[in-house]
Amino acid sequence: MATNGKLNRKLRMALVGGGQGSFIGRVHATAAVLDNRAALVAGALSSDPAKAKASAPDYDIPADRAYGSVTELIAAEKALPADKRIDFVTVATPNHTHFPIAKAALEGGFNVVCDKPMTLDLKQAEELLELVKKSGCVFAVTHNYTGYPLVRQARQMILEGELGEIQAVRSNYIQGWLRSRLEAEGQKQAAWRTDPGKSGAAGCFGDIATHAYNLARFMTGLIPAEISCNLKIFEPGRQLDDYGHAVIRFQNGALGTVTASQISHGRENDLFIEVDGTKGALSWRQEEPNVMIVRRNGHPHAMYTRDPNAPHMNDAGRAACRLPSGHPEAFFEAFANIYRGAYDDIVKRATGEAFSATETVYPNVADGVDGMHFIQQCVASSQQNGAWLSLKHPAARR
Ligand code: NAI
Repeated sequence: MATNGKLNRKLRMALVGGGQGSFIGRVHATAAVLDNRAALVAGALSSDPAKAKASAPDYDIPADRAYGSVTELIAAEKALPADKRIDFVTVATPNHTHFPIAKAALEGGFNVVCDKPMTLDLKQAEELLELVKKSGCVFAVTHNYTGYPLVRQARQMILEGELGEIQAVRSNYIQGWLRSRLEAEGQKQAAWRTDPGKSGAAGCFGDIATHAYNLARFMTGLIPAEISCNLKIFEPGRQLDDYGHAVIRFQNGALGTVTASQISHGRENDLFIEVDGTKGALSWRQEEPNVMIVRRNGHPHAMYTRDPNAPHMNDAGRAACRLPSGHPEAFFEAFANIYRGAYDDIVKRATGEAFSATETVYPNVADGVDGMHFIQQCVASSQQNGAWLSLKHPAARR
């Protein structure tokens, strides 16, 4: 089969962020090419122009497309002939820079894959939504946990009613790496995440509770109605929350909780979700992502393994697998599934086929708006001593 079907070529990617010493840019660069459907050809890899250029050989980006800034990248790529020009820009920079970078890319006509939280505040997110609609570009947000095969399996099982009516969801994201004030010791990733000017109105809740909330929404399809939240700063001297709980009332009467921590000793990346329905319950943990437990009173607990050849796997779960069972798939593959979905739409756009900007298997700009609304309402509720506030944003999808 030709690469990218009708398009019959690889997509061309530009990476923003991912310079030497950074974290998630390298994950994007790896996941984006996992299926051999794209090549990384250009980048503005760092906020420091010299470091941006010095980092390019690490990715085999040629010197003439290793740009010193995003402004340079967009201008130069727009000027290239269509058969050379990039198809999409990946934004893997700290939160406060997502909006200007994504906006410049969209205005240049380029599709975007943006990391989370989508922007610094809700207003910027709403503006991006409008820009996506106006530009007709594809926009994916890397809430990568929705890309795990058993998460997609769970979503389909729930939407098809296998667990009955969903009445409760508990989504927790527990880490311990900010137990001490790493930001005061110059640790780069800690420094911007605890700075309100760079992280946004929330710390831990912007960084990881958004993932937990997005996962709960994706897996259950439940529509939120109201939220009550308590955020805490436990490390003295820190400016943003490092712990918090939110309670969510959903429109169908279900109750949800989102707990996020960055101060729990020994906890690494414990994103853990449990869903209770009238006919059954399930639980899934990202540190053991190839296993999901389904429980029904009076029956032995069922352990679902990620096995694309097993009759227990549904279409959505199977479609998200690359390897046979027993060969663990994890972070990179799930990340690559976000890219895979976005590529299908980028190819459609490039070949003149219709696609939806907001009804997608991968998280899109509307999910980004939903995440920013969640952060805003959590902070506002916490400031009002846990007051119940509305949570349904008009743009957020089902
Ligand atoms: P980092 O601090 O390790 O790296 C950020 C990189 O962006 C650095 O190379 C920096 O020089 C560069 N940069 C900053 N401003 C820039 C600009 N204007 N132009 C070009 N490059 C610029 O940060 P990290 O941990 O990689 O996080 C980046 C983003 O990814 C954040 O929004 C974060 O929330 C998100 N993230 C998402 C994860 C996920 O699982 N989806 C996991 C980790 C981070």
